Amino acid sequence: MNFGETMKFFDREKEINKILSIIEGEPNLIYFIYGPINSGKTALINEIINNRLDKDKYIVFYFDLREIFISKYDDFIEVLFEEYEDDKSPIEVIKAIINDLPSLYGIPIPKNTLNEIFKKKTTKNVFRYITNVLMEIKKEGKQPIIIIDELQKIGDLKINGFLIYELFNYFVSLTKHKHLCHVFCISSDSLFIERVYNEAMLEDRVDYILVDDFDKETALKFMDFLIKENNVSLTNENKELIYSYVGGKPVLIIKVIDKLRYENLNDVLDFMLKDATQKLKYFLEDVKEEDEELYKKVVDTLKIFKENYEVEDITIPKKIREFLVKRNILFLNPIEGTLKPQSFLIWNAIKRIL
Ligand SMILES: Nc1ncnc2c1ncn2[C@@H]1O[C@H](COP(=O)(O)OP(=O)(O)O)[C@@H](O)[C@H]1O
Ligand SMILES: [Mg+2]
Repeated sequence: MNFGETMKFFDREKEINKILSIIEGEPNLIYFIYGPINSGKTALINEIINNRLDKDKYIVFYFDLREIFISKYDDFIEVLFEEYEDDKSPIEVIKAIINDLPSLYGIPIPKNTLNEIFKKKTTKNVFRYITNVLMEIKKEGKQPIIIIDELQKIGDLKINGFLIYELFNYFVSLTKHKHLCHVFCISSDSLFIERVYNEAMLEDRVDYILVDDFDKETALKFMDFLIKENNVSLTNENKELIYSYVGGKPVLIIKVIDKLRYENLNDVLDFMLKDATQKLKYFLEDVKEEDEELYKKVVDTLKIFKENYEVEDITIPKKIREFLVKRNILFLNPIEGTLKPQSFLIWNAIKRIL
């Protein structure tokens, strides 16, 4: 099974080694992988699953909630399980799968069992079934790993109380209590991470791994890497110029270098900045129309970033901060207590407009 796209993966050795070291140890904590939008969290985890993990030792269950519409219990159950028609027992099915697939999109379940789970609208049966599967995998000499990408999508979902709390409880039991399964949760939503960070139930049961945009040195190396792949050439000044426009966000660097095959650099960068500027302008216009008072505060806040790329979070009033984070203008790092534009492009747009 192939997870990521066919693109070549670059660097992230530090993050990869950290995650591999965690996986080699006994499951003990729930790990939250967080960072700005498009910083490369999903790409990183896919690289680990596909190319870095010893496939004889681990079984990965990877659930990507990004493109899935989840509004009720049944939707969530459908994401979790992969149904089997045959009348083999779950254990037989699992044994067969374990030995030829290292990573799976769903937890194998016979159709009858799944139907029963659908009928009983409680998570208790779901979690009990999953635990049995995980124990079976352990018995076969392999370590299970659960990864949920874009977990915040079920953040507000209610079943019997909030699903997310039931899930966290379950993950605590899998890690801290039973040491049965590694659990990684990925999210780009920094307000969600902030909620997790302040959640008493998770105190001392969680750790955080930041996957940020590349720093400058790495971004320049990433350009060299892409130049070779794409057969284009760039001077050092060109590279500096690209960095000054788009910063270390991998997806934007890829976009610039790809466009160089048929456009010149200044046009590419001008266009991208114009686009970001227009979007910010229209965003501000909408805010102004909705709420003049809020608009003034938003403008005052954004002006702070003309001189600074990153500020301490509490220097900006909570309501404004959360508004701008929710609208993806700013990225909040609740663990470091910092706030910065979601990308250099937005930063440059702020500098241009305000
Ligand atoms: N280390 C990397 N090497 C090569 N390409 C990368 C890398 N990290 C990210 N990318 C590119 O950036 C895109 C966006 O990254 P993604 O992992 O989807 O971001 P996130 O999950 O953090 O929102 C990927 O599809 C990939 O093309
Ligand atoms: Mg992602």
